[in-house]
Amino acid sequence: MVLPDHALINTIIAGKKLIYKPVVNPIMLFQKSLVSIEDVSTEDIEEIFRISDNMVKALEAHKNPHIMDSYVMATLFFEPSTRTRLSFESAMLRLGGSVLSVSDVSSSSVAKGETLADTVRMAEAYSDIIVIRHPLEGAARLATQFTGKPIINAGDGSGQHPTQTLLDLFTIWKEFHSIDGLTISMVGDLKYGRTVHSLIMALSRYDVTINLVSPPSLRVPEHFLAKIPRGKKVKITENLDDVIESSDVLYVTRIQKERFADKNEYLGLIGSYSVDERVVEKMKKSAIIMHPLPRVDEIKPEVDFTSNARYFKQASYGVPVRMALVSMIMGVA
Ligand code: CP
Repeated sequence: MVLPDHALINTIIAGKKLIYKPVVNPIMLFQKSLVSIEDVSTEDIEEIFRISDNMVKALEAHKNPHIMDSYVMATLFFEPSTRTRLSFESAMLRLGGSVLSVSDVSSSSVAKGETLADTVRMAEAYSDIIVIRHPLEGAARLATQFTGKPIINAGDGSGQHPTQTLLDLFTIWKEFHSIDGLTISMVGDLKYGRTVHSLIMALSRYDVTINLVSPPSLRVPEHFLAKIPRGKKVKITENLDDVIESSDVLYVTRIQKERFADKNEYLGLIGSYSVDERVVEKMKKSAIIMHPLPRVDEIKPEVDFTSNARYFKQASYGVPVRMALVSMIMGVA
């Protein structure tokens, strides 16, 4: 195994040197796959925050840290994506690395019947790190069986989306300087919404109150609820009004149309929640509204112009957080 070079990575920002200096355990994520948010420790998350913050400063100063020049990332997207694929690719390019992408299954040999196993074996041959999105829950975990290279789960069906959770946590941390003590309310499709599943597991490590707001048919599946430790403050309700005034974070999600076997069931759930200016007026002044995006109609465009809206800022953090994660996994941060 080639051990990472722990030499300090210096980035010149506005004439000053920022030093990326690991403080916890510099090799903790080295060559590791990230399939579930449970694959990272709370210490890993703190380190990701610290390095992401440095990446934010580097990006703001238009100083890309070229620390991945000799690395190639493969992005295999078997489902549509705007934010996740583009921000992973932007992250890699800003780190000085290169990207190979399958963004349309019909243009790859999957369309000829090639298996996931063989596709992953080929990505392994051509790259150093593989980012995969797939419609089937468990696909990313399965992919780890066919390669020794790190696999990053960019969303597996209704399973998890751990890198979204890292940027969600980073957004909250940037806003409140802490995660402990907050009341976080997740609203919408909590059954099929993979971002919510990963976020619930991550938040369970912190001293937070979690509110879960959904129609009865879209509640968080039992196996994800079971991950919340006993004694954690959790409220399950259908009514947004039950939680709106106490929330520090309102995490809104889209009804996941593509997961419904019965189109009529989906049609009956459209518009279950609609965050508009009347909802915003009931919120704390300091509260923020987040959404993993894309949104359909669950947050009205008028909300974009309120001081509470953070979903575009949140999406923008996809680049620095993924820069931090990829460089840590490759052992250059
Ligand atoms: N948040 C997210 O996963 O967005 P995309 O589907 O556009 O990647």
